[in-house]
Amino acid sequence: MDFPFVYSKLINFINITLIQDIYLKMKLKSLISTLKSNFSTTDKWTKSWEENQDYMGFMQESYDDTDPNRLALGLIKPKTQILSAGCGPGREVKFLVNLECDVLGIDHSEKMIELSQKNEPKAKYIVGSIVNFKSNDKFDYILCLYNTMNYLHNFKARRKFIENSYNNLKQGGKLIIITKHKFSHLGAFLRSIISNKNFCYSPKQIDRWFKDLGFKVKKTKIGDEILIIAEK
Ligand SMILES: C[S@@+](CC[C@H](N)C(=O)[O-])C[C@H]1O[C@@H](n2cnc3c(N)ncnc32)[C@H](O)[C@@H]1O
Repeated sequence: MDFPFVYSKLINFINITLIQDIYLKMKLKSLISTLKSNFSTTDKWTKSWEENQDYMGFMQESYDDTDPNRLALGLIKPKTQILSAGCGPGREVKFLVNLECDVLGIDHSEKMIELSQKNEPKAKYIVGSIVNFKSNDKFDYILCLYNTMNYLHNFKARRKFIENSYNNLKQGGKLIIITKHKFSHLGAFLRSIISNKNFCYSPKQIDRWFKDLGFKVKKTKIGDEILIIAEK
């Protein structure tokens, strides 16, 4: 057998397995870091809430009323039935109970539900996932504000949430979402490319969440965010 031929085959083989090995290790590393950050997002949120003493103040009269989340809350009719999806420590829950709405807050963090119960005991609460939540009682509004959509880390989860929301709404009911706009500034655009979690969305990506579900969707850009109103 020709020795140089065998030798070059061997070197090729070693190179290929080495490259495969490096590639697999890199993939594994990125998977582990994605999983780690997915698990810690709610912890980060809990920490920031605990540190931000003015958090509830955000909903008070004197605060900036051009904030898109506040504008979204301005659309809610009093005395309606509402699901606060990702209610956190109860910022919008309190506001809505003051409008005499019947509010159900859902959050997958027990700690958040405890805080929300403390901030607004008149609402009802569930510890659970907004992605899988199915309800026999139907709602006039489902609210997913303050970029809670960003916590649903892949298209499948976002789509499932939208599908279940459709079934959880009354006819004519509205799903209202505030999320980051991909083209609002260079930083948001770069983040949407670099982050594997897609923190910022383009109007086209948003259309895919709602495709073929029967919602009438309106999207309005407000500063860095998009206000999405999807009517059943
Ligand atoms: C940015 S915070 C918004 C909280 C609240 N809407 C507010 O503004 O005060 C997002 C919340 O969604 C919750 N969350 C994230 N993913 C969730 C999921 N899949 N199911 C239920 N809650 C979730 C987090 O625990 C967190 O409290």
